[in-house]
Amino acid sequence: MNGPRKLLYVKSFGCQMNVYDSRRMADTLAPQGYVETAAADDADLVILNTCHIREKAAEKVYSELGRLRRMKDAAASEGRDLVIAVAGCVAQAEGEEIIRRQPAVDLVFGPQSYHRLPELLARAARDGKAVDTEFPVDNKFEHLAEPTPAATRARGVSAFVTVQEGCDKFCTFCVVPYTRGAEVSRPAQKILTEIEHLAAAGVREVTLIGQNVNAYHGEGPDSRPWSLARLLRRVAQVGGIDRLRYTTSHPRDMDDDLIAAHRDLHELMPQLHLPVQSGSDRILAAMNRRHSRADYLDVVKRLRDARPDLALTSDFIVGFPGETESDFAATLSLVSDVGYSGAFSFKYSPRPGTPGADMDDQIDEQTKSERLQRLQQAIDRNQAAFNRRCLGMSFDVLFERPGRYAGQLVGRSPYLQPVQATAPAALIGGIATVTITEVASNSLFGALAPGAQPRAPQPALLPAGA
Ligand code: 5AD
Ligand code: SF4
Repeated sequence: MNGPRKLLYVKSFGCQMNVYDSRRMADTLAPQGYVETAAADDADLVILNTCHIREKAAEKVYSELGRLRRMKDAAASEGRDLVIAVAGCVAQAEGEEIIRRQPAVDLVFGPQSYHRLPELLARAARDGKAVDTEFPVDNKFEHLAEPTPAATRARGVSAFVTVQEGCDKFCTFCVVPYTRGAEVSRPAQKILTEIEHLAAAGVREVTLIGQNVNAYHGEGPDSRPWSLARLLRRVAQVGGIDRLRYTTSHPRDMDDDLIAAHRDLHELMPQLHLPVQSGSDRILAAMNRRHSRADYLDVVKRLRDARPDLALTSDFIVGFPGETESDFAATLSLVSDVGYSGAFSFKYSPRPGTPGADMDDQIDEQTKSERLQRLQQAIDRNQAAFNRRCLGMSFDVLFERPGRYAGQLVGRSPYLQPVQATAPAALIGGIATVTITEVASNSLFGALAPGAQPRAPQPALLPAGA
C-alpha cells in the first residue's frame, strides 16, 4: 500500500459483466489503499459502472451524477475531495460529452481501460480531468490484477468469473460490439487460478460469464485454443467447486461438444440462458441473428436430448423495426413451443450508431407496450407452469444467505430459482436436499428432506497445479 486508506464506492448498473468488472476495479485499486464502502456519502472515490444496452440508461446516469455533484459540493465545504468517475458502456459511448454535461465528473473510462485505473486517477488529479475510451491494441485481460484469496473472501458462495469479453456478432439492435469491442478470450490458466482462489475462499458455485460466452476460445495450458466445453470440463475438476453455470450464450455457438458437456458434467447445472430475441424468421434475419427459428428449436432439442430436465431462459425484443402482428405471433408461439422457466423481454430501443436505429418501419411506442405486455403474460404462464412442476420434487439447494424470516435460509435450486427453507445458519455455503412444498411466481419454498444429510461447507482443497 502506498498511501493512506481511502474509501471507494462502486455502483453497478446493468449486467453481471458489470458487477464482475466493478469487483475487479476494486481489486485493481486495493494496492493504492482503496477500501470499499457501502455508501457514497463518505467515499473519496465514487465510480458509476454504467450500462448502455437499453433506453434511459444514460439518463439514469446523468441524474445519479446530479446527486453526486451535490455530494461533491458538500464534501468540498468540509474540505474533503470527492472524485467522481464514470466507467462502463455509457462512458464508452458518450466519452467527453459526460464531462461537458456534468463538469463535476473527474474521470471517464471505458470497459477496455480498467487496468489503467490507478494511472488514470493520477492523471485526473494532475490535470483536473481524464478521459480514456480508446480500444487498446493490447489485451486488457493480461493486465488485470489477479484477485487474491483475501480480496475474494466474504463475497459469498457463488461467484462470477469473466472468461470472454466483447462480441463480433453485430446483431443490428445491439451496442455491445461497439462499446465492448471485438471478442477476446482470457487464457484458461488465468481462469483456473482465479477459480482455485475462489474455491479456497469458500465459493461453491461459479458462473463463467461473457457477452458471447460460448464463443470462448482462450489459450489452454497446452498453448492450443480451448473451447468453452473443454474449459468447463477442467473447471469441474477444481476441488470445492460443486456447481457450474455459464452465461450468455449465442445459439450459433452451441456446438456438439458443449451440448455433450450438459450430458456428462454433473457439476454443470441444468439451466441455460439462450436468448432468441424473436420467433419470426423475417425479424431474426433483420436482426442479423444468423440463425432461424428452426435452428434455435433444433439446438433446444439437442440440449434436451442431452439433459432432459434442462430449464431454459431467454431474452426477447418486441417491436423491432418492421415487426408485424404475425411476426409477433411467431414469437408468442415460440415461447409456448419451448416452455421457458423464465425470460426477460424488452421493448426495442434504437441505440445510436446501430443499424436498427436507421431502419424504416420503426414501431410506435403503444404497439411496443402492448406486445410487451402480451409477451410477458405468456412468459409468466411458462414460468408458473415450470415452478408448479417443481412441487413435491426434491433437489439440492446451495444456501447463500439468511432468508426473509428468522430461521430461514435462501438458496438456489439447480434450475436457478430462489428457494426458501427453514435451515440452520451453519448451512450457509452448504448444499442440502430440499423437498419443495409450496411455489410462488418467483420463488419456491421447501423443507430440508427428512433424513437428508446436509453437506456442510468443506474447506476447499486446492489442487496441486492446474
Ligand atoms: N433494445 C431492446 N433490447 C435490447 N437488448 C439489447 N439491445 C437492445 C435494444 N437495442 C436486449 C437483448 C439482449 C439483452 C441483454 O438486452 O434482448 O439479449
Ligand atoms: Fe449483442 Fe448480438 Fe453480440 Fe449478444 S450476440 S452481445 S445481442 S451483438
